[in-house]
Amino acid sequence: MPRLTLTINNRSVSARRGESILSAARRSGSDIPTLCNLGGLIPAGACRVCLVEVAGYPRPVPACATRAEQGMVVTTDTERLTAARRMIVELLLAERNHSCAVCVMNRHCQLQDLAARLGIDHVRFAFISPQAGVDISHARFGIDHNRCILCRRCVRVCDEIEGAHTWDVDGRGAASRIICDLAQPWGTSTTCTGCGKCVQACPTGALFEKDAPTQKATIDMERLSEWRRSRK
Ligand code: SF4
Ligand code: SF4
Ligand code: FES
Repeated sequence: MPRLTLTINNRSVSARRGESILSAARRSGSDIPTLCNLGGLIPAGACRVCLVEVAGYPRPVPACATRAEQGMVVTTDTERLTAARRMIVELLLAERNHSCAVCVMNRHCQLQDLAARLGIDHVRFAFISPQAGVDISHARFGIDHNRCILCRRCVRVCDEIEGAHTWDVDGRGAASRIICDLAQPWGTSTTCTGCGKCVQACPTGALFEKDAPTQKATIDMERLSEWRRSRK
């Protein structure tokens, strides 16, 4: 497979043609934070937490959705990037109702982990505090829209790996909602196979198993890649 060379954080890194900056950076030991990205799924570029600086580019680009190019000079950790990541996470926290102490994912949540990593101990923006709703009509699972960060991992894993395409996104901006079968209660879905992949892929407490009151199992990224390969 053709290869190219780029520079990431002053280190020369070899990458495959078509490989993302994120993948090349991680392989070379640079730890770029992510939220919407999940190995084995097509990148959505939805959260912008993985922003990196590329020499000659006017603004930061998402590492998960930007291909590595020959000769690129990439920096993954600058004051500007940290400030942008902090702002993104604070806005996510302000947009819905993230009360970690009473969340099924407390201490197992990727949003919570990222906030801690970025040293966020308060939010500078006004909390919107929407009444976003909860759907527990499914026999085994529930979705709490108050915890949803619209990363679309559930939409993609259901479509790309399970092939059911039960989930979609309705609306725009902060008013967006994840919907099931064109906005029907999950329990009445005719497309959901009950596989639970969406629940496993969710980085927050938005999607949960009813009989797992304190936490969800950790996501096995390797299995998603296996499932994708087996569908081809
Ligand atoms: S349980 Fe499986 S089929 Fe049902 S919505 Fe989730 S990923 Fe799709
Ligand atoms: S329900 Fe979970 S996986 Fe789906 S968009 Fe919301 S936070 Fe992401
Ligand atoms: S992880 Fe890259 S945009 Fe979300």
